[in-house]
Amino acid sequence: MLKGRTILITGGGSGIGEALATILSAENKVIINGRNEEKLKKVSAAGKDISYYVADVSKPDEIDGLFKRMKADNIVVDVLINNAGVTEPYYIDKKIMTSSQIFERINTNLSGAIAVTQQFICQADRAASNLIVNVSSAIVAFPVPAQLLYFSSKSGLHAFTRLLRYQLKDTNFKVVEVLPQGVDTEMSRGLGYSGKAPLPSTYAREVIRSINKGKTEHAFVGFTTARLFNALIPNATLRLVDKMSQKLFKH
Ligand SMILES: NC(=O)c1ccc[n+]([C@@H]2O[C@H](COP(=O)([O-])OP(=O)(O)OC[C@H]3O[C@@H](n4cnc5c(N)ncnc54)[C@H](OP(=O)(O)O)[C@@H]3O)[C@@H](O)[C@H]2O)c1
Repeated sequence: MLKGRTILITGGGSGIGEALATILSAENKVIINGRNEEKLKKVSAAGKDISYYVADVSKPDEIDGLFKRMKADNIVVDVLINNAGVTEPYYIDKKIMTSSQIFERINTNLSGAIAVTQQFICQADRAASNLIVNVSSAIVAFPVPAQLLYFSSKSGLHAFTRLLRYQLKDTNFKVVEVLPQGVDTEMSRGLGYSGKAPLPSTYAREVIRSINKGKTEHAFVGFTTARLFNALIPNATLRLVDKMSQKLFKH
C-alpha cells in the first residue's frame, strides 16, 4: 500500500511525476528530483510533504550524489518510482544529434533508471517491504520508427523490469511496470499528440489504485492485444504504426 512510505520519484517536477508526487504526499513522505530547480520548488511548495534534490539522472556522478545527500539527511527510501524520461522524433540520417545528446537521452530513459535502482536497493532496509515502479511506455508494444531512441531505451527499460522482477522474486522488493500512453503532459504536447488525453492527475490516481490493488503492470486496455499483434506479425505492425505516425512526426 502506498501509505506511510518514503517515496523517491525521479522527474517529479512536471507531468505524471508531479501528479504522483502531489497526490502521494497526502499520506507519504515524498522526495522528487529533476534538473530544473524552479519546477521542483513549485511542486514541493504545493504538496503536503515533498522535498527535492536537483539531480540529473543521465549523469552517473549526480545519481551517486543524490543518494549520498539523502543518506546525509537520514532519508531511507522504501518506494522508488523511476519516472524521468525524455523523447523527441529522431531520424538518424536526417536530424543529426551529437554523440553526447544520444548518450544523454538513453541514459535518462534507461542507464540512469538502472543505476538509480541499484542505489535504491543498496540503501534499502531489506527486512522491510520495498517497491520499485518503472515508468516505461506503451510504445514497447508498438514500435514507432520516428522515435528511434525512445523506443530503443524504453524497450530496454521494459526488458530490465522483467528481469529485475525475476531476480528479486524471493526478496522483499516488489517490481511494478507502468506503461503510459497519451497522457496530457509537456512530453506528449511536445510530440504534437492530439488525441483525447487524460490529465496527469487522473492518470496518477489510476496508477496508485492499480498499485494498491497489488497489480504488477499498469497499461491501457488494448495493450495485451497490441503486444500480441507485435509478437505475431511484427513487420506488418511496424509498417502500420509507421504509416499512422507519419502525420504526427513530420520530417
Ligand atoms: N505523457 C505520455 O503520454 C507518456 C507516454 C508514455 C510514457 N511516458 C513516460 O512517463 C514519464 C513521465 O513523462 P511525462 O509525460 O510526465 O513528461 P514530462 O512532463 O516531460 O516529465 C518528465 C520529467 O522528467 C524530468 N527529467 C527529464 N530528464 C531528466 C534527467 N536527465 N534527470 C532528471 N529528471 C529528468 C523532467 O524534468 P527536468 O526537465 O526538470 O529535468 C520532467 O519533470 C516518462 O518516463 C515518459 O517517458 C509518458
